[in-house]
Amino acid sequence: MKHFLSVEHMTKEEIIALLDMAEKYRQDEYELTKQVFSANLFFEPSTRTKMSFIVAERRLGIEALEFNTENSSMKKGETLYDTAKTFEAIGADVLVIRHESDDWADELKDRMNVPIVNAGAGKKDHPTQSLLDAITIYQEFGSFDGLNIVIAGDIKHSRVARSNAQMLTKLGANVYFTGAPDFMDDSLAYPYVTMDEAIEMSDVLMLLRIQHERHDQFSSSTVNYNEHYGLTIEREKKMKEHAIVLHPGPVNRGVEIDTTLVECDRSRIFKQMSNGVYVRMAVLTTQLLKWGIIHEHDIKKRNSTFGGQPVTKMRSVN
Ligand code: NCD
Repeated sequence: MKHFLSVEHMTKEEIIALLDMAEKYRQDEYELTKQVFSANLFFEPSTRTKMSFIVAERRLGIEALEFNTENSSMKKGETLYDTAKTFEAIGADVLVIRHESDDWADELKDRMNVPIVNAGAGKKDHPTQSLLDAITIYQEFGSFDGLNIVIAGDIKHSRVARSNAQMLTKLGANVYFTGAPDFMDDSLAYPYVTMDEAIEMSDVLMLLRIQHERHDQFSSSTVNYNEHYGLTIEREKKMKEHAIVLHPGPVNRGVEIDTTLVECDRSRIFKQMSNGVYVRMAVLTTQLLKWGIIHEHDIKKRNSTFGGQPVTKMRSVN
């Protein structure tokens, strides 16, 4: 059975079906009528991804099992595989996993009897991030065809760069990279442009954080980074009128982006986070359906009236 592990193995049709379902979840409230448990196993720090999975689960009525690496039996030497099997045995219906290894899924994917959702694999894959970036771009432009999307920053160490380049190319966009020479990755077959070219040509400029935790040595490119490679006030002024700025977060203000630009008119950074909830709801239900853990009739529109008033929708953030 198919887990949700990488963009590489997704077809354009599968991506579009997930984006459509996420849009449906954005418009109306749905919940599962069957009891479902999820385990969110995060072995790397996370604020947005972990919390938006939890909100996605709670909105659907899925019960999230608490897990904290610091207090878990992994501190006693238990492996990732045995931890995952434990959650399967005690009744988790879906496992959401983030781990620093690029290939953590290899030892699990043929041995688990519940679906696994990748919430981040080393520097290799971050497929739910790509879905939320794609839906944010679609909401803006209504199409991907011919859009110039430049991914800027620490390409070499970024799973967001890899997954997004694959997904946005599949969807019909022109993907480019830019960044300091130290942060380029020749094994990735996408054209590189300079930051100043990126500013002029991009419809979407996607900034990335320097992934210090994955650097083995000091990089001189990190010195005066904002001036050389970041989005400064001067550069922002030269962008196309309709161009938008994305960033997966966490933002290092004053490094990849001037602090005053984090919430500028072009920034969709907080909108990306809101969209993260809906795409994760879509991924979770799609996996539960595929594995036969729930069926279509287990997904119900919430009885969204109380005294004739619709229940409050999630805040819409720009
Ligand atoms: C990213 C990640 O963890 O890969 N953050 C996220 O999931 N929103 C990017 C990063 O850490 O720089």
